[in-house]
Amino acid sequence: MDNNAPRLARLIEVLRQGEVLAAQTALRQSDMAPTLWMRRALAVQAAQERSHAAIAGIAVRVLGPAAGAAEDAPDVTADLRRQLERDLDAGELAFSLIGLQGVVEHLGEALLERLGQHPHPAGAVLHGLRKKVLAQERGHVLLGSRCLQALGRPPAHAEKLDHYRELGRVAALRVAELVDDARFDANAFWCDIDTRLTDWHHCAQAAQD
Ligand SMILES: [Fe+2]
Ligand SMILES: [Fe+2]
Repeated sequence: MDNNAPRLARLIEVLRQGEVLAAQTALRQSDMAPTLWMRRALAVQAAQERSHAAIAGIAVRVLGPAAGAAEDAPDVTADLRRQLERDLDAGELAFSLIGLQGVVEHLGEALLERLGQHPHPAGAVLHGLRKKVLAQERGHVLLGSRCLQALGRPPAHAEKLDHYRELGRVAALRVAELVDDARFDANAFWCDIDTRLTDWHHCAQAAQD
């Protein structure tokens, strides 16, 4: 068995869990959205996230015997999921947009790009679909900033962003541990995500100012 295969199975499983979280969250956001265009766009996102989760499930199965290692994958997004559930339960749509379309999406995008570089056949499965999936993920990020602009900036926006950013940093470092490659720089991985997040935030803010 390819020595890297169990590690890759865990990484793809982490991606799959993130896609499931994105699908569930976008569906709840769609139910809460105040306008028809927002409800529809978030429902489309939820459907796309479900298909991404299915693709990730196929990529794990392509690994054959190593696919069993996916069962040991840590629940990297547990804290992000709990915070998203709290914000959704409280009816805080804008906060959940910061958490999902801001932090989780940028984390997933960086992980997907990383997996696309992997030489294993499962990496090739993702690589083949990467362009399409990444284009959709970028669409979700843009949708998040469009929804935030339409909702206006909520009070405590900055603190919420900081909190989600911290949860994202912890999740990214746990993902980096799974990569277990001396050439892989965990801090650089997080910096890449954080830079994308900051650009996204400035974009959403600039449109409100
Ligand atoms: Fe996705
Ligand atoms: Fe997405």
